[in-house]
Amino acid sequence: MLQVQNLTLEIEGNRILDDIDLNLDRKKLYVITGPNGSGKSSLAKAIMGMYKPTAGSIIFEDQDITDFNITERANLKIGYAFQQPPRFKGITVEELLELSAKNEGQKDIEICDLLLDVGLCAQDYLHRQVDGSLSGGELKRIELATVLARRLKLAIFDEPEAGIDLWSFQKLAETFDMIHEKYDTTIVIISHQERILKLADEVIVMREGTIAEHTTQDKFLSKIARDADCRCRQGCEKGALYDEVECYR
Ligand SMILES: Nc1ncnc2c1ncn2[C@@H]1O[C@H](COP(=O)(O)OP(=O)(O)O)[C@@H](O)[C@H]1O
Ligand SMILES: [Mg+2]
Repeated sequence: MLQVQNLTLEIEGNRILDDIDLNLDRKKLYVITGPNGSGKSSLAKAIMGMYKPTAGSIIFEDQDITDFNITERANLKIGYAFQQPPRFKGITVEELLELSAKNEGQKDIEICDLLLDVGLCAQDYLHRQVDGSLSGGELKRIELATVLARRLKLAIFDEPEAGIDLWSFQKLAETFDMIHEKYDTTIVIISHQERILKLADEVIVMREGTIAEHTTQDKFLSKIARDADCRCRQGCEKGALYDEVECYR
């Protein structure tokens, strides 16, 4: 459904993305991983239209969207969830979700079902304010519910684990898993977490602005197990499993 072809991005003379080729299929879940500064967020932003590529093209459902702006891409149902979810002052969870659904012309969406889908009890949350009174994990799940309300075709999540505790993170991972089962959305998650990598159909490893590896989850995980034999066993609770992949056991 999405083809990135020979994509190069330069910012102020620095090559951030270097001749990237990537094909994404409908309904699959992709995890992009790789060291800090390898260009993961930049690739996501180029797909979203926040960065204009220096060369190359982006094709979405057989349409060349390289010159489309963010709004035009959003209208095609391509969405990006930020590392830090926005907090809206003076708006309730119910209003936020209604707004998200309505903006996309979705009329038949049950707000309670959306909350249920992200593991929140509707009664407890419908009338809560979307503000600092919600925990990081709750906010992430409400943001996820807004993505579901929009019925996106392609949803990109940039390090959804940032800023939440381990318990919330486990819940979030379960929620991604359920969404992957239930919805047709193609999901791209930028993450370093083994728990998230285990949800992937395919894993994309970025290094220095290029795609170093694009493989299946099985192959990726067996490879890192072989490579490192889990350094976690050597006493650290949350050590590195494979360079930048964090072990959550
Ligand atoms: N707007 C920008 N201006 C200048 N440099 C940028 C900009 N965005 C990203 N970069 C640089 O591009 C490289 C890749 O960044 P990024 O895509 O955020 O990496 P990652 O998400 O993998 O950590 C980094 O060296 C970063 O400093
Ligand atoms: Mg990033």
